[in-house]
Amino acid sequence: MTLWGGRFTDTPGGALWAFTVDHSDRRLLPDDVRGSKAHAAMLEHVGLISSENAALIQEGLALIEDEIVRDEFVFTDGDEDVHSAVERRLAELIGVAAGQLHTGRSRNDQVVLDMRLYLGRTGAGRMAQLRDFVEVLTERAGETAGIVVPTYTHLQQAQVGTLGHHLLAYAWMLLRDIDRFDACLIRIAESPLGAGASAGSSLPLDPDMVASSLDLPGIFANSLDAVASRDFVAEYIFCCAQAMTHLSRLAEELVLWGTVEFGWATYRDRDTTGSSALPQKKNPDPAELARGKAAAVLGDLSAILALQKGLPLSYNRDLQEDKRLLFHADDTLAGALAALLDMVAGATFHPSPPSAWSTALEFAEVLVSRGVPFREAHEVVGRLVTTLLESGRGLEEVRKEDLASSHDVFQAEDVSLADPNRSVSRRVTPGSGSSESVFAQIEQIAAVLDEGGKEGT
Ligand code: ARG
Repeated sequence: MTLWGGRFTDTPGGALWAFTVDHSDRRLLPDDVRGSKAHAAMLEHVGLISSENAALIQEGLALIEDEIVRDEFVFTDGDEDVHSAVERRLAELIGVAAGQLHTGRSRNDQVVLDMRLYLGRTGAGRMAQLRDFVEVLTERAGETAGIVVPTYTHLQQAQVGTLGHHLLAYAWMLLRDIDRFDACLIRIAESPLGAGASAGSSLPLDPDMVASSLDLPGIFANSLDAVASRDFVAEYIFCCAQAMTHLSRLAEELVLWGTVEFGWATYRDRDTTGSSALPQKKNPDPAELARGKAAAVLGDLSAILALQKGLPLSYNRDLQEDKRLLFHADDTLAGALAALLDMVAGATFHPSPPSAWSTALEFAEVLVSRGVPFREAHEVVGRLVTTLLESGRGLEEVRKEDLASSHDVFQAEDVSLADPNRSVSRRVTPGSGSSESVFAQIEQIAAVLDEGGKEGT
């Protein structure tokens, strides 16, 4: 059953139906019913429907809610979309009174309301998952705060740091993702009901009442904007895409760390898969797929922007495509968060220590601390590195004579600067790679999580 048969003398063609009906909106079912209940209550309040009919509609919608909870709601092939399905079922349950529910409403404002309600609940779920991930990273960072590792730039050993510090870099990224979702959900919490198909209604509707009964703090200001705009969807997808990009970057490192060449981590059997051909293999598939699936989420972001760019105001059926993009992005993020969380939580870390070369900056900084200009110090240590390389030695084999002939402010005990453990404890700047910094960051993160605790749980 369509909601628009009156003007037509023929039924929709099969090809049109197959091409235009998108079942992905079925997951909006609970939101559609919730919005309809609020709408019906408002219609009764302003006197557009009688209390008897309003009661019937509320009863019917409550029955539909029960069916949803029991997973017994049945869609039919004739349902053009989720809104049509609810109205069809309501008519089956309560008869002609169902025909009053759509008073003062269009599917154009209805679908926006459904999406905004849906995002309110799914967004809270994603934030909770992100929080869990941050907590696991923080826990693992606490355990590995004393494990000295090289930090990298250009995938070359750079300075000495700790594994805990490395893991916390991701915790901070994901904390910002939580913040982004939070800010985005504030903009999403707005009711479009009352905008109608495009330009409002001659009926005495009360959009504020609908909004407040749905706990939405605001209503639309412009009806065309309310039904035409999907920046709220694009913004949510951006939040997903950015979080997926962070996870993809972490995933790449988890893959690298699990290689024989890197040898930093071993993953539990339950978090890896095998090879049908190579008996020795244990593959980090969840990480590879998080990295791989991030590509399609970036595609969702580009598609949701492209979807809007050439559309005249206001609603156009093109906009129906927003849902598949949104659900795909959000579901992919949800899956990646769950799978990578397990992998990180269960990993055994055993990174190889940094090479002494990654302490080179210590030698330059010790000269600086004794008054040598940095550029000169850099030059001196650079030459020292070349000399050692030419004599086939590493920095750990530097002798006091090498230092003395490099610069007269070097002191004999400076040879111990080449010890990576010593190097890491010399990091004194805030947010640096030292173990102390890791513990300080863990406290900071706990405070941030406490502050934002309500949203994410
Ligand atoms: N299924 C449609 C969508 O998702 C609902 C709105 C339909 N409006 C219309 N005028 N055909 O966008």
